[in-house]
Amino acid sequence: MMDQKLFTQWQPNFSVGNPILDQQHKKLLSLCQQAIECMSDNSRDGVSLFHHILNDLSEYVDQHFQTEEALLKASGYPLLDKHKEEHLEYRLKLTDFLLSATLGEINKAGLHHYLSGWWSDHILGSDKQYSGFIKGVD
Ligand SMILES: [Fe+2]
Ligand SMILES: [Fe+2]
Repeated sequence: MMDQKLFTQWQPNFSVGNPILDQQHKKLLSLCQQAIECMSDNSRDGVSLFHHILNDLSEYVDQHFQTEEALLKASGYPLLDKHKEEHLEYRLKLTDFLLSATLGEINKAGLHHYLSGWWSDHILGSDKQYSGFIKGVD
């Protein structure tokens, strides 16, 4: 869904009930916002910033997925395998976008769609599903 409104400010109901994961989701939201904001700037600085943000996003995503998966494992989350599969799919797709950005062939509408979907389907969907399981797990 091409909806800029999905990338608004953090809302309390986005919380998954763990302060570390919430903090990471906030940072991811901010990186998604920045990527979308600068993707239409075709100046040399704009393109360079866009690449920079995509790289940051890619690095940060790995960190986040690792933290989240470790916490879900520690809490005995029954849907961990499925959750990890979703992470892998997002990870692979992001790698595709990074590669095409490096080649100067990125599909910006596709990236926008992907980031919006990730936020609404995964973070506000699959991630919210585990919130009841991780309470009290550090
Ligand atoms: Fe997450
Ligand atoms: Fe997740």
